[in-house]
Amino acid sequence: MREIASRVNLGPVESEALAQSALLHHYAPEVLETETLNRLLGALRTGFPPGATSAFPSRAVRGILERFHAAKPDDPAGALAQVVEVANFFDERLEFLPFETVNIEQIFDELDWIAREGFLDPALVAILAGLRQVRMQELVDQVQWLPVFPAVLLRALALTAEEDSSFSQIEEVVRTDQVLAGHLLRVANSALYGAIQRIAGIRQAIERVGVDTCRKVMMASAFQPLFVSTTLRELWQHSLVMARLTEGLAQLCGRIDPHEAFLAGLVHDVGRLAFQKLRREHVGDYRRLVEGGCEPVFAELVLCGFEHGAAGAEILRSWTFPEHLIEAVQQHHRPETGDSLLGAALYLAEDRSGSREDLVSPARMSLAYDRLGIPLENPDGQGEPPDAGWLDFLVGPGASPTVSSGAR
Ligand SMILES: [Fe+2]
Ligand SMILES: [Fe+2]
Repeated sequence: MREIASRVNLGPVESEALAQSALLHHYAPEVLETETLNRLLGALRTGFPPGATSAFPSRAVRGILERFHAAKPDDPAGALAQVVEVANFFDERLEFLPFETVNIEQIFDELDWIAREGFLDPALVAILAGLRQVRMQELVDQVQWLPVFPAVLLRALALTAEEDSSFSQIEEVVRTDQVLAGHLLRVANSALYGAIQRIAGIRQAIERVGVDTCRKVMMASAFQPLFVSTTLRELWQHSLVMARLTEGLAQLCGRIDPHEAFLAGLVHDVGRLAFQKLRREHVGDYRRLVEGGCEPVFAELVLCGFEHGAAGAEILRSWTFPEHLIEAVQQHHRPETGDSLLGAALYLAEDRSGSREDLVSPARMSLAYDRLGIPLENPDGQGEPPDAGWLDFLVGPGASPTVSSGAR
């Protein structure tokens, strides 16, 4: 809403009144009495100092809310209430997506139609639609030149499929990359493996850590170079946490390959990474929306008409990933759009990681738990990620991956 307000040249006071109206717009007109509104606003605004509410809500906020509920568009407050109306309609349509098969284009068509019928301001609808400026190909192009080695990722995954993959096959892959070999030696010589005697050979390192851990090091090492900048460290940390959580859920479910789950967790947000690499003005729009209180998925839908799951799927397709991994990433915030078990596991893992990339949807949560066949409540802590402390060194100094525990 702030974004629309800024594009109709509203001043800071009117913009602030609109932002406060947005927080309160769900409440019935009967509670528009000043003191009640002050208390509600105090409860809704994080960090709103208690006792400092006397200036809020201003008369302007109450005016906007009265017009919003009474639909009287013929006065200045009514014009501002129209901004709330347009933003509210769009938001509510997005919230209904788990229950119906419409896409974002159809939602914008509906908005257009309602505006033509005279129920919404066509100029404001045009502004909202005009915020979509980023095309899918533009995002996919962002990652083409980045130093990632999908071939190593896929080779590591292929080796997981071969139950009897020998040490020499793995050794062959590790030898193709110096950084990867260095990471493996570092893990093998770490205190986690009680490394009293230092080893320098790749074969010995594989024997010490075991084939399973070796494959994970391969995957994580191949993907890490995408996240070298300090601004992306948090996203990398989240990807490692997700790899462990998704692997844990796969083990709990029993019908998903845990190795694939680990890889899916690592790469699930590659679409978010691409958003960070957009042209400066688009990144600016994106950050402004997120800092203004929009969840990343919402901001992406506003700016692009698709979210980072869809973008990530296209990127993985360009890296020739297997189709079922592509589908899982595509569905990781929209499990209702397909039937991927791994997509549902990623959806739940996102929630358990506490990443807050999208609003929590009870409908999607219940669908994901049903699909995996695991109970909604998980008091025994089953499905918690296996200990993978050896991954911590990939995050860098001073940062250790943490996992929010407990199922919701
Ligand atoms: Fe995520
Ligand atoms: Fe995500």
